[in-house]
Amino acid sequence: MKSSQTKAFKELTLTYDRLDKTDMATIASFNSAFDQDEVQLEPNGDQVTILFRQVDIRKLRSCRKTLNGTLNSKLVQDVVAAIEGVKSYGIANGKRNYVDYNKERKVKDRAKKVSSRSPYFYAQNHTHSETNNDFPAEYTDKIIVGDSKDILKNIPDNSIDLIFTSPPYNFGLEYAENQDAHYWETYFDQLFSVFDECIRVTKYGGRIIVNVQPLFSDYIPSHHLISNFFIQKKLIWKGEVLWEKNNYNCKYTAWGSWKSPSNPYLKYTWEFLEIFCKGEMKKPGSRDDIDINAEEFKKWVVAKWSIAPERKMGEYGHPAMFPEELAERVLKLFSYRGDIVLDPFNGSGTTTTVAARTGRRYLGIDISEEYCKTAERRLESVQCRMI
Ligand SMILES: C[S@@+](CC[C@H](N)C(=O)[O-])C[C@H]1O[C@@H](n2cnc3c(N)ncnc32)[C@H](O)[C@@H]1O
Repeated sequence: MKSSQTKAFKELTLTYDRLDKTDMATIASFNSAFDQDEVQLEPNGDQVTILFRQVDIRKLRSCRKTLNGTLNSKLVQDVVAAIEGVKSYGIANGKRNYVDYNKERKVKDRAKKVSSRSPYFYAQNHTHSETNNDFPAEYTDKIIVGDSKDILKNIPDNSIDLIFTSPPYNFGLEYAENQDAHYWETYFDQLFSVFDECIRVTKYGGRIIVNVQPLFSDYIPSHHLISNFFIQKKLIWKGEVLWEKNNYNCKYTAWGSWKSPSNPYLKYTWEFLEIFCKGEMKKPGSRDDIDINAEEFKKWVVAKWSIAPERKMGEYGHPAMFPEELAERVLKLFSYRGDIVLDPFNGSGTTTTVAARTGRRYLGIDISEEYCKTAERRLESVQCRMI
């Protein structure tokens, strides 16, 4: 067979007691029905070798009908069954490709990836400056009372390595009847004006990580809205951590929808951490400043973190704290010792406490004087423990 000498074929052999004239006529008829590159039969003594490469499986299945009725249908049946028994193939041009399909696929995917498919296409034509700046000494290791939107105006562009924060549930917005429709619009406008500043002050290669609980009771997917905001601003969405709080104390069901599909109330025991990178995913740093160990790394790159909610909210007098373990995982997995860490909604100072304890420099901002005092107290206790 000419083409088998130049092209690769898959081979299968069928063995019979003997091949008679009808068998030979069947083989000849079969071969004339199929292209040489597709499938051909080669008789050899009492054996029939099937050489096949790219097979139109529907044509193969129906070949019994198309072949002359006087032929050996058992032989044809054996051929069809043997080819159908081969389960490794690719699909190309409507045919089963039994040869080199894996190689073709790999090469094709690789070439396609390199030439036409960009990762994080939405951030490719960003205009973030690559020049990073020093963080001012007067803001280093400070807790500041104020509105982050205003305070951050004093911070230079591209000067912070990592931002970790959880947004407030409101901005002190009063809930008046005539504001109903605009309440959440105003809320997100205010939040995004702080996030705009956050993007500006983050270094090229720096990270912004937002802990967010969707506003389930108002059916507002805040984690999606926030991610969409950062994507629109051409940050790279690096991924998302599901923080499993195992908190089953939440509301069960709205009365009236109990055990009914009319309007079941979904329960959530988790929150999200949305992770964004400015400019590029790789963050430069010295090996000596890495403080995550192998066990922690293996465990924490699995992006579902089971951590109990903060139990000391009463003691610290803050209703919406995240636990220190959450901040510790974020800081050790995404920043180096000595990095500058900002929390623009620092609350009782969980981020700044962990930053100080793990040898990072920090800036914490909160609009509440009371919370800032708590944050200062927690920092003092870290310093005491370190002495
Ligand atoms: C969810 S809490 C953060 C709690 C913090 N992660 C902790 O563990 O304590 C959000 C904080 O944002 C603060 N906040 C609200 N509006 C602010 C603003 N415009 N600027 C700075 N902080 C603000 C609130 O006072 C509140 O403490």
